[in-house]
Amino acid sequence: MSRRSGTTALVPRSGRAAEAAAREDRAVDVEAEPLERLRQRTSEKWRAYPPDVLPLFVAEMDYPLAPPIVDAVVERVRASDSGYVSGAADAGVAFAGFAERRWGWHLDPSRVRITTDVSVAIVEVLRRVISPGDGVVITSPVYAPFADLVAEAGGRVVDVPLGPDHALDIGAIDAALGDGARAVLISNPHNPLGLPHPADALARLAAIAAAHGAHVVADEIHGPLTWDASAFTPFASVSDAAREWGVTVTSASKAWNLAGFKCALMVAASDRGLAVLDGMFEEVTFRTSILGYHATVAAFTHGDEWLDGAIAAIRSSSQLLENLLASELPEVGYTPPSASYLAWLDMRGLAWGDDPAGHALEAGRVALNSGLTFGPSGAGFARLNFACSPEVLGEAVRRLAAAR
Ligand SMILES: Cc1ncc(COP(=O)(O)O)c(C=O)c1O
Repeated sequence: MSRRSGTTALVPRSGRAAEAAAREDRAVDVEAEPLERLRQRTSEKWRAYPPDVLPLFVAEMDYPLAPPIVDAVVERVRASDSGYVSGAADAGVAFAGFAERRWGWHLDPSRVRITTDVSVAIVEVLRRVISPGDGVVITSPVYAPFADLVAEAGGRVVDVPLGPDHALDIGAIDAALGDGARAVLISNPHNPLGLPHPADALARLAAIAAAHGAHVVADEIHGPLTWDASAFTPFASVSDAAREWGVTVTSASKAWNLAGFKCALMVAASDRGLAVLDGMFEEVTFRTSILGYHATVAAFTHGDEWLDGAIAAIRSSSQLLENLLASELPEVGYTPPSASYLAWLDMRGLAWGDDPAGHALEAGRVALNSGLTFGPSGAGFARLNFACSPEVLGEAVRRLAAAR
């Protein structure tokens, strides 16, 4: 039996190791662009602060786009193919292929739907599974906009912080659902910690959700960026209860840096889940960008080698960050993640107060995300985006060290 799902064949451990090695061999070189070129970008990362600030905050990467994505988008632009998107069929097939290759998750492509972005997907799914004023569990410290998305969907945030070991507090979530919360919104892998939730925790979450008749919205946008793909367990692969009560929302936008392209996927694994997705207004689909749609199909179909190259660059950047902090800023605590490119820095040792990102910006001219925005336990923490060049990372740590 697969550790993932009854419908999925087990890939033996040696097979997985061989697959991982083969992937590493095929990975293409991915390197961050030089700062002068990055400063020509017009996105939030490069426009939010004046040029003397090093921006290591919002989750955008400094790597150039994957060539198969550029080719797909340019081809569509040259074909003047700029109308409304027409259904989700190719995206479903592309994502199902990727999920099978990468994680051994066998999903039905005809149960994939599209919308503008993952934030919209979360709001639209929540709108259909809660009534106005219902509680929705989130697990702080967590991706800051979750609280706003719950409110936008008409829900009420019920924060059930992660345990001290960064595990989901299943007992407390059970209690919150017992008190009337109607849904749980998880980040898997968890932003800002960069940790995939273990399969057994996900299975326990699914079981209690089913017992309370509550839905789980699994935001798996960072899933493709799990460093060792075998460490990521898609929520919908863990059990029948997860498939019945879960809806997965994801996209290619973090792993291939496509946030501006505006296309996300919503995946159902049961008739109940599909009824949630098909209960949405058709405008939810039509708000997807057709160029984003083609970029997404290209990413999940032809993007593996670039992704593996990006993950190699991200891992080496994390190692560099660890070394730099140890030698130049030892007061800062950093536990390397096992997914994505975000460092959750414990800066309490610097005595820069509850919001060290504020001091980092003012005194160091380095923009980080304030830990406080991720929830109360973020006091004294900041999030740093290390999907950048070694030069930028080195300069950022030197500036922070000089700001002491
Ligand atoms: C966990 C998580 N969910 C959602 C988003 C936002 O995704 P989108 O831009 O598709 O709305 C992010 C962005 O960083 C994220 O980290």
